[in-house]
Amino acid sequence: MTRPLFNFDAEFRLGIDAIDQEHVKLVDMLNQVHAFISEAKRDVARQYFIETLTVYVDEHFANEEEFLARIAYPQLDEHKKVHAQFKKTMRDLQPLIQSSDEAAFRQAVNDTFTWIVTHIGKTDKKYAEFYLA
Ligand SMILES: [Fe+2]
Ligand SMILES: [Fe+2]
Repeated sequence: MTRPLFNFDAEFRLGIDAIDQEHVKLVDMLNQVHAFISEAKRDVARQYFIETLTVYVDEHFANEEEFLARIAYPQLDEHKKVHAQFKKTMRDLQPLIQSSDEAAFRQAVNDTFTWIVTHIGKTDKKYAEFYLA
C-alpha cells in the first residue's frame, strides 16, 4: 500500500461541503496517479492522468465557477482566468504525459500535483474566507 502524498483534512478543507467533496476526489485522483507510478504501472498512470484526472479537473472548475457566481464572489473573473490558464497548461502537458520520456512524464505529473494543491490551499481558500465571513 502506497502512502498518500497529501493529508486532505489537515491542509485543504475549506468548510464548504460540496466543494470539499470535489477537492477530496481530486486529491484522491492525484494519489492514485502517484500509486500507479510507484507500482510501475506507467501506462495505466498515463491513461488515468489524461482520461480521468484531466477530465475531472475541467468538471470541478465548471462546478466551482458556478458556485462562485451563485455567491457573487467579487474575484470570480480573476479566478476563472486562473482556471482557464491551468486547463491550457494541462492540455499543453499531454504530449509530455504521453511521451516515453520518463523524466518528462514525472515532471509533468509533479507540476500538476503542485499546482492543484497550491491552488486549493491558497487561491480557493480566498473564496472560502469570503463565503464564510
Ligand atoms: Fe477548487
Ligand atoms: Fe479554483
